[in-house]
Amino acid sequence: MAFPRRTFLRVLGGGIVVAAGAVLAVPRLDAMPPVAIEGWRGPDPAETDPRRRALAWALLAPNPHNLQSWVVDLSRPDTITLHVDAGRLLPQTDPHSRQILIGHGCFLEILALAAAAGGFRAEVTLFPDGPWRLDRPVARIVFARQPGLAVDPLFAEVPRRRTVKEEFDARALDPVHKAALLAGHGAPALALSIVDDAGEVERLRGLAIAGSELEMNLPRTHKESIDVVRIGGAEIAAHRDGISLKGPMIWALRHAGAMTAEKAMTPGTLAWQGGLDYVMSGYASARAFGWIASADNARETQIAAGRAYVRLQLAATALGVALQPHSQTLQEYPEMADLRAAMHRQTGVPADATLQMFFRLGYAGDPGLSPRRALSSFETA
Ligand SMILES: Cc1cc2nc3c(=O)[nH]c(=O)nc-3n(C[C@H](O)[C@H](O)[C@H](O)COP(=O)(O)O)c2cc1C
Repeated sequence: MAFPRRTFLRVLGGGIVVAAGAVLAVPRLDAMPPVAIEGWRGPDPAETDPRRRALAWALLAPNPHNLQSWVVDLSRPDTITLHVDAGRLLPQTDPHSRQILIGHGCFLEILALAAAAGGFRAEVTLFPDGPWRLDRPVARIVFARQPGLAVDPLFAEVPRRRTVKEEFDARALDPVHKAALLAGHGAPALALSIVDDAGEVERLRGLAIAGSELEMNLPRTHKESIDVVRIGGAEIAAHRDGISLKGPMIWALRHAGAMTAEKAMTPGTLAWQGGLDYVMSGYASARAFGWIASADNARETQIAAGRAYVRLQLAATALGVALQPHSQTLQEYPEMADLRAAMHRQTGVPADATLQMFFRLGYAGDPGLSPRRALSSFETA
């Protein structure tokens, strides 16, 4: 994350401008530590277990707050048993773990794409031990060798996919790209909508901003993000998860004592305002929004929503279209109820249906890779 320069200069004032200039001249300062992103190279070439080869790709899936809430048990031959990591939940902002399950759907889709690319059919049984609870698996996946399996072209996009949190270019969404994304959506039970009409975009932007401000102004929900913010290269390398703040500006702020978790929690500080400015600049640049909605909100549907979302993002990657989810206004905690209802009205999604994913679409440069933990850290002993 790079804070908008104007905020930094405005708040710190003239005396620090020279220092900021000097810091900006050292672009590698506080860069993403290589160990945190080594996973993006894919499986270890020496790895022969097809499950681990596929898992090395699956852990690159998008997931809420980059918590990577996946645990895998490989004790049964040819089988992966997938669990939710009970220590990696978002109880305040995702009280029913709906988003966590969507992240598992993203993981399962990439796992299946990777297995097929390795010549294996991934036979996925959802919730094999009964309705989902934290002590029951999300899925059991059996790898069955199947020569001649087609490799889905979306698999090639897995290492190129990024969630772009920065400002988008001013370019409107190309109607050809919009049509291709709608046509490529293969999950009829999960309605995909994309809007680029200026008036509609403006109304959706207003709701997204209001939801983000509400979350940031409510200490218990804001804290859930702050708790997983990793500030600077050393913290990022130690955790390899969460929300990464890095780069010369963050380095300078950290060294000036202006960038700490406590400051980021406190409205009016540079750290808090910088976070808000950053989020707002993303929304301000949105020229199109999209969403995936479902009639029911079954756990199976949440998994299917994740599978559909990551396929959409991979298809967007192939077209050069950037996506960033906005989850705040969809979240199921009491203070958000009115804004969530307004979002349903604005999108035309009935009140008893579920907005599973909401996102902005556009064009942007490569924001760089997000961290991932080592594959071994996902395996149960
Ligand atoms: C269910 C779900 C909800 C998400 N919500 C948000 C969000 O509200 N804002 C955001 O910037 N990114 C959101 N993301 C994207 C994650 O932050 C992102 O996937 C993660 O940080 C890893 O980065 P990557 O996708 O570039 O690998 C969401 C992803 C999922 C699967």
